[in-house]
Amino acid sequence: MSDAAADELLELNQQLLESIATGDWDTYQALCDPSITAFEPEGRGHLIQGLEFHRFYFDLGPSEGPRTTTMASPKVRVMGDVAVVTYVRLVQSLSESGSPVTSHYEETRVWQMHEGKWQHVHFHRSPCG
Ligand code: GLY
Repeated sequence: MSDAAADELLELNQQLLESIATGDWDTYQALCDPSITAFEPEGRGHLIQGLEFHRFYFDLGPSEGPRTTTMASPKVRVMGDVAVVTYVRLVQSLSESGSPVTSHYEETRVWQMHEGKWQHVHFHRSPCG
């Protein structure tokens, strides 16, 4: 695996997470394949297909207050035109009472090179145990 590919994938993945944190639908949509699949807690055990399910949350607007998103201990594995990015996602924000809180999730995100561009094609997010 080239360091350049790993660096680019980490950069794109961070952009994706920032777009979620800021409610930036245009960026999220541009990074995702329209046929993306996902397992995430919001899906209640069902495989989510396509972007409409995710759009619901963007349409609610960005969350109030400061929010910092960090990929902890990220690993990138490139296998030809497919790459897997794994890490623990840490989200720092403020509770309703104004105290700092950190949420944490195990994430696996799959990217595919398509016409010279990495596209996000699948992810799995679980709350840390
Ligand atoms: N729920 C959107 C995402 O984590 O990509």
